[in-house]
Amino acid sequence: MQYRRVVELMTEKELGLHLEVRGWVRSCRHSKEVTFIDVNDGSCLANLQVVAEGSLANYAEEVKRLTNGSAIVVRGEFCASPAQGQAVELRASTIKVVGWAAEDYPLQKKRHSFEFLRQISHLRPRTNSLGAVARIRSALSYAVHSFFKERGFFYVHTPIISTGDCEGAGETFTVSALNLEKLALQGQKLDWRQDFFGRQANLTVSGQLEAEAYAMALGRVYTFGPTFRAENSNTSRHLAEFWMVEPEMAFCDLQDDIDLAEEFLKYLLRYALANCQEDLALMMNYVDKDLSLRLENVAEKAFVRLSYDEAVRLLTDAKVDFSYQVQWGADLHSEHERFLTEQIFKQPVVVTDYPLQIKPFYMRANDDGQTVAAMDILFPGIGEIIGGSQREERLERLVGRMESLGMVLDEYQWYIDLRRYGSAPHAGFGLGFERIVQFVTGMKNIREVIPFPRTPGSAAF
Ligand code: 4AD
Ligand code: MG
Repeated sequence: MQYRRVVELMTEKELGLHLEVRGWVRSCRHSKEVTFIDVNDGSCLANLQVVAEGSLANYAEEVKRLTNGSAIVVRGEFCASPAQGQAVELRASTIKVVGWAAEDYPLQKKRHSFEFLRQISHLRPRTNSLGAVARIRSALSYAVHSFFKERGFFYVHTPIISTGDCEGAGETFTVSALNLEKLALQGQKLDWRQDFFGRQANLTVSGQLEAEAYAMALGRVYTFGPTFRAENSNTSRHLAEFWMVEPEMAFCDLQDDIDLAEEFLKYLLRYALANCQEDLALMMNYVDKDLSLRLENVAEKAFVRLSYDEAVRLLTDAKVDFSYQVQWGADLHSEHERFLTEQIFKQPVVVTDYPLQIKPFYMRANDDGQTVAAMDILFPGIGEIIGGSQREERLERLVGRMESLGMVLDEYQWYIDLRRYGSAPHAGFGLGFERIVQFVTGMKNIREVIPFPRTPGSAAF
């Protein structure tokens, strides 16, 4: 039985349970005729203390020689623990060593740095902190689905292999079945028509465009899957492979979009506060002592909403020496975003109506001809956590914009069709899932909140 379930049963006062627990040895303490083994089965943060008496059949040969990291199966009786540190313990009647851990097992009882743990990403979920992050990430994924389910959204699986570049940033990874090495050796030119799909294909940067097609049929949909960007940003907030949650709503405008996004973020925070208490308490002890206060604040207070115009004015008036100059028409850099949320407002900020020229083709043009119905949600400590917009539903406007950007219309004919066959106002957004996991866990580096991070120069494991 999972230890977590045992703890639940014990709080329902069922002492004296005879059960089997399967897990990995975290540490052992031997005294004369008894060994105390801390076992963790991954179901919760807490270790189970196993009391192994010298009378066990394999005590001398195995139990006394147990190494950290070994996999064991313990049968015995759960009893109230006379010692401090745990309420219950398992008095072993049998201990079976299923898999020995070699002597060079790298995880010791001491604290390891996150940088070191990254080099052993295959073992790091066995530590308290990375195990907690993995459970919180799982809980938040579940909350994503329950939030949308409760609101009548349908989950759509958009393709991973794509032929478009939704964001138009040119940061795609090509997908090819050609033997590139051979072509290079033969000095041949690349001809995508000879490739698997008969054209150039890439890993998706966003499921948005395909989600729009489904929103135009099912009304309210969302995607939640991996996305890929070959942007050379070696920062604590960028990954080359990250997960994105992208809802899309028909018959909605930018205000509805912002309302949904705010409600969604707050829902995720409340879910974590209510369901991940033990793991959050660990993060507070080791990573950030103000964590739960911060989560509660953000979950309760209304977000600040202001236009890009106003944001630029506030940043200019602040007279701060930023590394990047603040200038109307230029994108806000992370230092500006963080100044707004951390210094000026000290809470999440929604910035709307960005200049048209710095945003992708699909955003709806505002009447001023200068800006689009876009919104970014900025979080303290993180910067941009959500990017969204109302989409350009007017055929001529959309085509005009695509032409002005030099896009090949043929490749997006299906997307343009959506404006020819029953177009409707619609809006959506994308949440960088790792960034919300970062915010909830207090982890400073995004590489700690995804199991096997992919970043420039690094795709180990
Ligand atoms: O602002 P972005 O680029 O928006 C889109 O992709 C839209 N198609 C979303 C939509 O409207 N459906 O990305 C959305 C979010 C960002 O706010 C950020 O949180 C996250 O995705 N993100 C990244 N997270 C980790 N690593 C990266 N390299 C990221 N790039 C974006
Ligand atoms: Mg963005």
